[in-house]
Amino acid sequence: MNELNQAQLLELVNTKQIAQGNPRVRALTQRIVTDLFKTIDEMDVTPDEFWKAVDWLTRLGQTGQFGLITAGLGFDRLIDIRLDEADEKAGRAAGTPRAIEGPLFVAGAPTTQVETRLDEGEPKGEIFVMEGQVLDTDGQPVANAMMDVWHANEVGGYSHFFPGMKPYELRRRIETDAQGNYRFRSFLPPGYGIPPNSPTAELFEALGRHGKRPAHIHFLVVAPGLRTLTTQVNIPGDTYIDDDFAFATRDGLIIELENDVAPAGYESLGITAPFTRSRFNFVMQKALNEDETSPAARMARVTANA
Ligand code: BEZ
Ligand code: FE
Repeated sequence: MNELNQAQLLELVNTKQIAQGNPRVRALTQRIVTDLFKTIDEMDVTPDEFWKAVDWLTRLGQTGQFGLITAGLGFDRLIDIRLDEADEKAGRAAGTPRAIEGPLFVAGAPTTQVETRLDEGEPKGEIFVMEGQVLDTDGQPVANAMMDVWHANEVGGYSHFFPGMKPYELRRRIETDAQGNYRFRSFLPPGYGIPPNSPTAELFEALGRHGKRPAHIHFLVVAPGLRTLTTQVNIPGDTYIDDDFAFATRDGLIIELENDVAPAGYESLGITAPFTRSRFNFVMQKALNEDETSPAARMARVTANA
């Protein structure tokens, strides 16, 4: 009985078992394999198309670009939408909206108290300061919150991923003071674009889509008893602000810029001439359990729980 039709093969693939395995992994794999068998049959996928896809997936993994594809195909935003829906249902939709972490976070950035420069003391472009408070949803300042901030360089590259940059360039961790204050000096980054001539670019070309993100700055804010906040702010005026390849622009996260701010009071950031400023408060929800306060970014969470 080694001759099989499609249905018999699918049944075999989905039911083979010599040990219990992981029931959740089994259930998800069964569902995905079933959907893919169906796709191959209904879309009449040819052998060449199938093996081309396998080759593409292999190269995607080799170049470490899966995280670009999940964002570009909407999965990262989907996860956020589902969390927002769950919050809404539970009556706890409050505070600063979450926005995707993206695949370019790197843990271990140098930590400073209250204020810092992200530009390593080497000014690039127009001087920009972002400042404000971390608050809880009762409006109380959050002391000793730890805020990771990261953004792209002047050509849209991120340190650790873009050649020629210093290890933690444009990445810092800021600890708020007793009033929840933070501030940092940097420059307004440009948008991001997926790497050209890459497996990711191949897919988006084939889909007739661009791979551009509007200018943005990332934040990961952690504080005892509060729900970890992963978010980004957008810089107004970007061509792609409503057409982000990662679908991550959100109301309430587009900052306002004040131009020609007087430098008095900003000397400790090396500022002696008028500059651009944005004031923005981050509002964190109360955590319901320890897991929600976990300081780990997405990959650290899953590898720690593996
Ligand atoms: C980014 O945040 O820059 C990013 C997010 C998703 C995919 C690629 C880049
Ligand atoms: Fe980014």
